[in-house]
This record gives sequence, structure tokens and C-alpha cells, in this order.
Amino acid sequence: MPLASLIKMYEKAVKQSYAIPQFNVNNLEFVQAALEVAEELKAPVILAASTSAIKYAGIEYLMAMVRAGSAKMTAPVAIHLDHGARVEDAKMCIDAGFNSVMIDASKEPLDENIRITREVVRMAAAKGVCVEAELGRLGGIEDDVQVSEHEAFLTDPDEAQRFVRESGVHALAIAVGTSHGAYKFKHEPKLAMDRISEIKKRTGIALVLHGASGVTKELLDKAARYGAQLPGAMGVPDAAYKDAVARGINKINIDTDLRLAFMGAVREVLTTKPSEFDPRKILGPGKEAIKEQMRNKIRLFGCAGKG
Ligand code: G3H
Ligand code: 13P
Ligand code: ZN
Repeated sequence: MPLASLIKMYEKAVKQSYAIPQFNVNNLEFVQAALEVAEELKAPVILAASTSAIKYAGIEYLMAMVRAGSAKMTAPVAIHLDHGARVEDAKMCIDAGFNSVMIDASKEPLDENIRITREVVRMAAAKGVCVEAELGRLGGIEDDVQVSEHEAFLTDPDEAQRFVRESGVHALAIAVGTSHGAYKFKHEPKLAMDRISEIKKRTGIALVLHGASGVTKELLDKAARYGAQLPGAMGVPDAAYKDAVARGINKINIDTDLRLAFMGAVREVLTTKPSEFDPRKILGPGKEAIKEQMRNKIRLFGCAGKG
């Protein structure tokens, strides 16, 4: 099928209480992996490109790969801009055929964030493009930081209510203690779960969890076996996904776990087969490792069979 409306995909996810995965993509193997797994598990999927991914791969290549790969699928696929910092980034992606964009003006004061987001919502409306915005600052909740200090970064439910009402945004990324990358927590993983329920109650729209990779021991051990060094890396435990989804998260962003899995598998080939120089035999196992991560996430997020 052609690219599916993410606005409609969210309506179903909110009603039936599951989360659609966002898988970040940068190249052919990542795009193929996401589409093959979505079709295999009949799951909705969002492929996302950051502005750095667009710079690396080229927007035309990304668009063409996603269009070609999704054309014969039955599971619904959306292509989304991740963390667009400027209105022009959103415009570039909408013009190129993306059917969802994130405008991330979360560093701006509330009024300015609302104003910028509203501008993108208006621009996107003509083409039925879905818009995600962010409120709050991502960052771990650590035991050695004063409660008042870390609470200042978390999304405030009153502000979220006003933000959604005044911006008209379709999906809202909220800060509840996660952060991007492989080092999310210094001690115990901790998420402000009650805040998810409260923000959902006040807004009713699709809520998004960024910085949600699991960074499991299994991924780290495999990478370490073949020479990677990531001491102190830590991510979101599996049980937290289920709780977050039950409380109102409808999209969960995964990039780091895919990178780690890919890197571990490629390292294994290069270490155990030092004479190998066929790129298909080096990158192929990387793609299979990403697919395994994706299958696992789709099942954990409750969206298998929802496509
Ligand atoms: O949120 C950030 C994503 O993981 C994308 O990262 O800008 O390195 O592509 P990137
Ligand atoms: P991770 O770094 O936890 O995979 O988060 C990715 C993300 O939020 C992309 O927007
Ligand atoms: Zn993010």
C-alpha cells in the first residue's frame, strides 16, 4: 500500500492502547529490516530520519527506498522527520513526501514552542501530514539529583494541556526521565510513570516516548565480546514499556538498540572472519540483528497484528 496516514494510525493505537514503534533509519539495511519485520508481524511501523540521517543518505534516496519497499506491503508504513529543529526542515520533508514531521522547539519558552508548532501544523494540514512536537527536556531522573531539579525538566501536565489545545498538534513527545543514546541512567532506571497517565488524561492525544532503547545486557555483552567498549551503558527495562503503553504512550522511538545490534553483528563477522571482504556478508548479519531487535520491540509494544 502507499504510505499510510499516521494520523489514522494513531487514532487506532489510542483507541486500542498500543504503541507504534519508530525505528530510525540511515541506510538500505535499516529500511529493509523495518519493512520486512512490519510485514512479517502485520504491525504498523514508523520509519524516521533525523536531519543528520537525511544529510548522510540524501532525502531522495530515503524517500525512494521507503516508497519502493512499502509499495507491496499490507502493513501500514509512515515516513517521519525526527527532531526537526526548524520550520524549514519540516517543509523540506513535507515537500519530499514525508507523511509525518516532528518539530522540536522544546528548547524554546512555552509560548514560542506553541507558536512554531502551530506554524508547522498549519503548513502540514494541506497535505494531511501528521505533526509531532516536544514539551519538556529529556534527561534521566537520578537519585543524587534533587527532586525539584529533575522535575523542572519533566513535562508539566498543565503546560501539556495548554500546548495541545493551542498548537493543534497530533502527537506529543513528553519528558518522563528517558534520554537519547546508550547512557540513560547512572543508577537504577527510573521513569515518572504517573506523569504519563496525568498528561494523557489532560490531552487525550498520542503521546511519544523518546530515548526509549533498552540497551540490554545481551546487546552490550555481544558487542563487548568483539571489542566494543561501552562501560556504564544502561537503558529502559522491558517492563517499563508495558507500563508506559498502558498509561498512554502510543509511539516509542528506538535508534540506539538498532545501532548497537548492527555494530555487534558487524564486529562479530570482522573478528571471526578476518578474510571476509564481501559487504553483503558483513552487513547482512547486521541487518538480521536489527530485525531481531525490531521483532522484540513490536511484540513488547503490543502492536503485532495491528497493521
Ligand atoms: O534522537 C536522535 C536520534 O537517535 C537520531 O540521531 O541525529 O545521530 O541521526 P542522529
Ligand atoms: P534512543 O537513543 O533511546 O534509541 O532514542 C531514539 C530517539 O528518541 C529518536 O528520536
Ligand atoms: Zn528523540
